Amino acid sequence: MTGKGTVEETSDLAKIIYKHMSIRWLAVWTLSLGAVFMFSGCEPKTNYKVLSFFFDGVPEPGKTAAAGGGEGASNDKKAVQAVSKSSVHGPFASKNCEGCHDRAAGNKLLLPIDKLCFKCHDLNIEGKKWVHGPVASGGCWICHNPHRSAYPFLLDAPGDKICYRCHEESSVLKNEVHKDLTIGCLECHNPHASQQKFLLRE
Ligand code: HEC
Ligand code: HEC
Ligand code: HEC
Ligand code: HEC
Ligand code: HEC
Repeated sequence: MTGKGTVEETSDLAKIIYKHMSIRWLAVWTLSLGAVFMFSGCEPKTNYKVLSFFFDGVPEPGKTAAAGGGEGASNDKKAVQAVSKSSVHGPFASKNCEGCHDRAAGNKLLLPIDKLCFKCHDLNIEGKKWVHGPVASGGCWICHNPHRSAYPFLLDAPGDKICYRCHEESSVLKNEVHKDLTIGCLECHNPHASQQKFLLRE
């Protein structure tokens, strides 16, 4: 993934973002970035929690995904249904924590968060004509959780809600093509990149 995220690209992207995004989203983004830096800080209490989590190990993926189902919960039908609607990240499920964290360095991330995901995923965005703003800037974490999620594909919110985090609903619905929407955004748009304008599915 060399050549990604150069200073030049970043500043171009910043321009695009400033041009297109609502003030509301800019504020949210700034706050989240702030939160990321805050939570990766080194307060002793946090460190203790992080370390004990690592040394105690994590619950079995099935139990974890059943959202607090507790011991043995993975055996009942309800828990199985919860698992099938949710998702656990491959390397988290297989306890490959070192795929992303540096255990020797207090479990900090191996790479900055905007580069981390590209270590294992390229999403075939190389050479695509249209790359979605947050994807180009490595903002995977805005839509996906790194460990697990209650929703498919590790998404941080269900269905169209993830899109409305940044795109004002009223302005989306103003467009003629979005009148009487009965299907989800993802039926027509690719969330990452496309050869078609407006990220339309190929
Ligand atoms: C795909 C990459 C990835 C893998 C694999 C991974 N993590 Fe993480 N982890 C992250 C990211 C990204 C964060 C958020 C860091 C931040 O906000 O600074 C995080 C945060 C954490 C935190 C801080 C508290 C929290 O939940 O936000 C702990 C503790 C943690 N991970 C433990 C683990 C353990 C234990 C494993 C292995 C079972 C693991 N991680 C596997 C990417 C990963
Ligand atoms: C250490 C390698 C590694 C890193 C780093 C990594 N992933 Fe993954 N990811 C995997 C593997 C392995 C799978 C499972 C592949 C499969 O099942 O096809 C996966 C699957 C996924 C899926 C599909 C999950 C599903 O339910 O189908 C998503 C979404 C995803 N990763 C997002 C991310 C994001 C976002 C990051 C950065 C925070 C990231 N990955 C970083 C290895 C990695
Ligand atoms: C705007 C929200 C958004 C952003 C940002 C985003 N994704 Fe996704 N991603 C999705 C959605 C929605 C899906 C569900 C699959 C679909 O409908 O195509 C998905 C699916 C995936 C999958 C599984 C299916 C596939 O296409 O391989 C992987 C892996 C993945 N994303 C990785 C990433 C990585 C890595 C990044 C950052 C470079 C990222 N995503 C950024 C919304 C997003
Ligand atoms: C993190 C904020 C964010 C999220 C979440 C997000 N977008 Fe975007 N989106 C942007 C930005 C920034 C642009 C403008 C830059 C660009 O053209 O890529 C954009 C552009 C687009 C465009 C192209 C508009 C044009 O004028 O070419 C489409 C279509 C789109 N988004 C659809 C979606 C869909 C569908 C989702 C939900 C899966 C989604 N977006 C989620 C930030 C976001
Ligand atoms: C039936 C297919 C379809 C669905 C479903 C759909 N779109 Fe679109 N979308 C389009 C088409 C076609 C365009 C190009 C519009 C044009 O040519 O003006 C577009 C354009 C866009 C644009 C850029 C132009 C604008 O109006 O700002 C955004 C952003 C966008 N869609 C977001 C979304 C979101 C968010 C959803 C889900 C709530 C969604 N779309 C659902 C077909 C669809």
